[in-house]
Amino acid sequence: MIAFAAEPATLFGRHLLEVTDLSRDELARLLRLAQYLKVQGRGEQRTLLRDRTLAMLFEKPSLRTRVSFEVAMTQLGGEVLFAQGAEFMVGSRESPEDAARTLSRYVDVIAVRTHAHEPLQRFAHASTVPVINALSARAHPCQAIADVLTMRERFGDVAGLRIAYVGDARNNVAASLAEAAVTLGATVQFGCPPTHRPSESYLAKLDALGESSGGATRAFSNAVRAVRGADVVYTDVWTSMGEERYRERNDAMLRPYAVTEELFAFAKPNAIFMHCLPAHRGEEVVAGVIDGPRSAVFDQAENRMHAQKALLLALLTELKGLPI
Ligand code: CP
Repeated sequence: MIAFAAEPATLFGRHLLEVTDLSRDELARLLRLAQYLKVQGRGEQRTLLRDRTLAMLFEKPSLRTRVSFEVAMTQLGGEVLFAQGAEFMVGSRESPEDAARTLSRYVDVIAVRTHAHEPLQRFAHASTVPVINALSARAHPCQAIADVLTMRERFGDVAGLRIAYVGDARNNVAASLAEAAVTLGATVQFGCPPTHRPSESYLAKLDALGESSGGATRAFSNAVRAVRGADVVYTDVWTSMGEERYRERNDAMLRPYAVTEELFAFAKPNAIFMHCLPAHRGEEVVAGVIDGPRSAVFDQAENRMHAQKALLLALLTELKGLPI
């Protein structure tokens, strides 16, 4: 039976810059709404965001984030405008504050993909409409929400899962994934060299986030120790966009953390493989794993759209009549 919202939606009018902007309850509600929207007929959704406009301002390339947001907004009855590269760089032609104040007069919600995180924070602070982080150097919250949605779909619950993240455990995808997973009660096991391990203070912050739900982190230099007994094995490219100067060093240091069939075999027999994409076969993962029967990468990619529909509705409406 569907439970309908008995209290005002708490995300209405807010920004989403990091997963930690959401409480555990808010994150859980978003996941329930995303799952509902995924199975609901598209025809029932086409007026939910009628006359609303999403501006997407991207300094970096994107396939999934751009298209999934555009399709989500369009299927909800809204409109989208997109600017990228030289057309829009946060803080380049004018201050982030002036750009945000101006755009707030034109559109209802703004998704920004940017190199640095601090100008995005300034932009959001000045904006009078919700701002969504569509990837910054620090965080990729939209990816993380889709990731935990995929885990919930596969396993029924995120609480109690053991998630191995192998490779560069200091990147934005790893950070947001870990924040979402421990918030929901999972254990995240990082497998990475000391150079690519989250700082002790960040690991402590993650453990504090998981305190009330039973979520926790562990960090191993040995990839097998991280993956042994895992329900989910997750990796990402070894060198993030904008970090290309470190490619050679990363390739050498992260090679022992590649997800091969041999490494994946240490996970549980029903474990799934996850990757935010784009992927480099033969580098961080072999084709036999990412293209194998236990790969969930395209469910993950699809779930970006459903998760972002839920997010757009929660930021722009009071979710009247929708289950949360
Ligand atoms: N995972 C992800 O954000 O993909 P894009 O860079 O293609 O948007």
